[in-house]
Amino acid sequence: MTVTGEFGDIDNGHIDPKIYTDQAIYERELEQVFGRSWLFLAHDSQLPKRGSFVQTYMGEDPVLVVRQGDGSVKAFLNQCRHRGMRICRSDEGTNKTFTCSYHGWAYDLEGNLINVPMEDRAYRKEIDKSRWGAVKVRVEEYKGFYFGTWSEDVPEFTDYLGDMAFYFDAVVGRWDNGLELVPMTSKWVIDCNWKFASEQSASDMYHVPFSHASARMALTDKPEEWPMRWGDAPPGRQFSGNGHGSGSVWLPTLGIPDLVSGQDYVDWLVSNQAEVFRNIGEERALKVYAHNTIFPNFSWLGPNATMRVWHPRGPGQVEVWSWTYVPKDAPQNIKADIRRGVQRTFGPAGSFETDDGENWTEVQQVLKGWKARQSKLNAQMGLGHEERDVHGLPGLSNDVFSETAARGFYRRWADLMAGLSWAEIRDQDAARERQETILPKEVQEV
Ligand code: FES
Ligand SMILES: [Fe+2]
Repeated sequence: MTVTGEFGDIDNGHIDPKIYTDQAIYERELEQVFGRSWLFLAHDSQLPKRGSFVQTYMGEDPVLVVRQGDGSVKAFLNQCRHRGMRICRSDEGTNKTFTCSYHGWAYDLEGNLINVPMEDRAYRKEIDKSRWGAVKVRVEEYKGFYFGTWSEDVPEFTDYLGDMAFYFDAVVGRWDNGLELVPMTSKWVIDCNWKFASEQSASDMYHVPFSHASARMALTDKPEEWPMRWGDAPPGRQFSGNGHGSGSVWLPTLGIPDLVSGQDYVDWLVSNQAEVFRNIGEERALKVYAHNTIFPNFSWLGPNATMRVWHPRGPGQVEVWSWTYVPKDAPQNIKADIRRGVQRTFGPAGSFETDDGENWTEVQQVLKGWKARQSKLNAQMGLGHEERDVHGLPGLSNDVFSETAARGFYRRWADLMAGLSWAEIRDQDAARERQETILPKEVQEV
């Protein structure tokens, strides 16, 4: 089964550039993709006690994520049902209730409307408050990470992850006591479509030797060792499934010099590697860590670096919300090394981060041209060379230098954009999997 037509022939690696520029497509994305997928909301460590809350976004919709009295986490649209003001205008904090600053309607920690000023006189006691609570988000927790969706028919989160759970567990299940996010959210805006960032994090090791050469050389004492010709690079694999993606060059050992966090961190990591190997297995620890995206817009780099959400802000803009994550039980000096290392590399002004943003804004700028939007773009790397369940890695994978995960990402995106139900998507995926095993693929020319 081939996804052809409106957005290019994605199965054959043809991408129509208008998916990055068209306002009408963007509006559809908000409904069909962001309205129907699981989206990262918050981590346990951001919500330490009853009433702790953070404000985030699902697509462009502001939501409040709140720790309840019973320890659970709930979320609701941060929109007052009176005239649509934000119910809460703080980014984070602790509350007993949320009171809208326009006319004072008040909501409890679940988003239920509990108080309306001058209810007797202004409403003659005729308002039914139980009908005017905030719009609730469906929330699921996965190992301390909370995801939300507006969809009632999207499969539960573990099904949605599918084989990606193995790759997500490589980071979230790595340490006995889990992870925590350093309590500082870095936010910045890049003038590019959100899909460039999300797809690259799912699929693109290919840019690393070239785009990051100067940053890497500036940060290392041995710039001559930067492998500009990564044809000689160590083996590695890229995973693709359910629109998600993960890719890593395999490490010979955990004890390799680390540009991000320094030698003290590496020494600490090696001295604690038995814990990692016990939790996720030595093979997975060495093979799964680097770039990752859970569809559509939650990405991380590992093993201890940065997590981020790519919030869409129109076809030509993305708002990055980025966190440093650390093992919860690591000593303070190691946490500090990781935090400083991330700032140097993948913070808002980090050397590597700005390399990436520069590429995406440049592509977006070129696509302002009329002619530049007329030709398909090529995402054919490794097409037809996918394998399933090889090298101890579950699911569909390919060489780490391939675009299997990019094609998977856009395929899931196109299925949702076409308005397929989640049941239809599941059937399509099963049909594709059958086809994979019986039909050889050929690269189709444009
Ligand atoms: S808009 Fe919130 S109370 Fe009026
Ligand atoms: Fe990069």
